[in-house]
Amino acid sequence: MQGKQWYKDIAVYQIWPRSFCDGNGDGIGDLTGVLSKLDYIKDLGVDAIWFSPLYPSPNADYGYDIADYKDISPDYGTLEQFKTVIDEAHKRGLKIIMDLVINHTSDRHKWFLESKKGDDNPYHDYYFWRKGKKGAKKPPNNWRSVFQGGAWEYDKNLDEYYLHIFAKEQVDLNMDNPKVREEVKSILRFWLDLGVDGFREDVITYISKKEGLPNGFPLPVGTGMEHFTNGPHLREYLEEFRAVLDEYDCFTVGEAPMMTPKTALKFIKEDDKQVLNMMFHFQHMSADNIIHNWMRTPFNPAKLKRVYNRWQTKLYGKAWNALYLENHDQPRIISRYGSEKYRVESGKMLATMYICQSGTPFIYQGQEIGMLNANIEHIEDYVDVSTLNNYQMFKKFHLPEKFIMSLCKYASRDNARTPVQWTAEKNAGFTTADKPWFAVNPNYREINVAAAEADPNSILHYYRKLLRFRKENPIVRYGDFELLKTAAPVFAYRRRYEGKTLLVINSFSANEQDFRAPYDFNMHAADLVLSNYDTAPLVHNGFVMRPYECRVYLK
Ligand code: GLC
Ligand code: CA
Repeated sequence: MQGKQWYKDIAVYQIWPRSFCDGNGDGIGDLTGVLSKLDYIKDLGVDAIWFSPLYPSPNADYGYDIADYKDISPDYGTLEQFKTVIDEAHKRGLKIIMDLVINHTSDRHKWFLESKKGDDNPYHDYYFWRKGKKGAKKPPNNWRSVFQGGAWEYDKNLDEYYLHIFAKEQVDLNMDNPKVREEVKSILRFWLDLGVDGFREDVITYISKKEGLPNGFPLPVGTGMEHFTNGPHLREYLEEFRAVLDEYDCFTVGEAPMMTPKTALKFIKEDDKQVLNMMFHFQHMSADNIIHNWMRTPFNPAKLKRVYNRWQTKLYGKAWNALYLENHDQPRIISRYGSEKYRVESGKMLATMYICQSGTPFIYQGQEIGMLNANIEHIEDYVDVSTLNNYQMFKKFHLPEKFIMSLCKYASRDNARTPVQWTAEKNAGFTTADKPWFAVNPNYREINVAAAEADPNSILHYYRKLLRFRKENPIVRYGDFELLKTAAPVFAYRRRYEGKTLLVINSFSANEQDFRAPYDFNMHAADLVLSNYDTAPLVHNGFVMRPYECRVYLK
């Protein structure tokens, strides 16, 4: 049996600082705002806060382009204030997790500014500078940026290209350079010594590139990612970092695009070779698309169930799952896998469906009150670099504006980045400024924290109950997982642990669905511990599921 490390018992709340809460009235979320909401976060029943980047940044990718790894952005406050946040959080029993973005730096980071000065500059080799082909007319290889366009940018002065797998303002670090790895270790120590309890490691599986940076599969499918995903030295570098992390009582969760359970086990299996404690994979976020959100397909619950079944069973007893449905990169989950019409029912069902699985749950700001997609009509009102680049790309293919905008409304990361809706007052109580940095979702008069507090049937109260249930019942964290055979839109699973059984039943349908429990589970003899309807009638050893109904039984 695997160990019972503290990171398995916690639930984590993610803050995307710019849109969380503005404390000084300049329209931008900040640490003063965070301090004012620590009790609210604690009351939710979580045990840790993960901060999306708080570092100084020119904001080409809103904080994921870091200009200084050892400071706090003046937009958010000071290092001193952050220290206060750590202390105040710790006083309340909340841990603090930093976002570690080391695949790339901002193009305004001093290392990059130095590296541009010439081939002989000591920082030149911190990045991937290469000569172009055909007399500099063509980039060094055919890799593509995740945010669209080529992955190389030409610098006239040096007559060389630099590599950027994300925006051109996010320059890939050359992790093969031992000096760069020393910098990373020094960054880790800096924050750990300040008191943080762990790291969420941004696109960590991209940090090692194949030697010689060879061409990838040709277009239109190719991006070169086979040469930089889980690259040749990834394990080795993570081992180096782990040696530092091991000196502290902290944990890591690595972001891992295209990850499968089999590959994940090479990194997170709990043996002496383990280099990360868990991974954020993306497979369950593709039940309504092909690979990424811009290739939309109808929501397919069967696909979702298959993915969960694989991750739950393949990791069980060997490694630990990171559970999430939302973050700053994902549109709001009710608008995707649930129903805006049945917002409250489907919001509670989705929460139950993922938090009752084995793993550490992550909850993204606003998710706990059932915030919805922003539905922004015009491209001028979007700010996210990946949205703007995708828009340009679709334009090049001459797709109709209306179709492109329907995709933006659906897939844009800006959906998750509107200010948190605190009250029904002006600007949703997010800021006292006239205008927040980004538009508040107009539905804030109905959907906000104050309204949710006042309504005993709210999604917010349900999250509290659900997280308390998880905390009080080890079966939710440590039980095994068995997918039950049901109608396609019903996702039911059974968990067993130390003589107890948990039955979790969720409907992804707006229509009635029949559910029948396995013959060896007598529903009449079990306790209904969670549900999203007031009544829970049974028909024989099952029931007729109402729209987006969920029930959890314990025996
Ligand atoms: C991760 C972050 C995302 C960012 C990207 C580049 O995927 O979650 O927000 O744009 O890495 O840093
Ligand atoms: Ca502010």
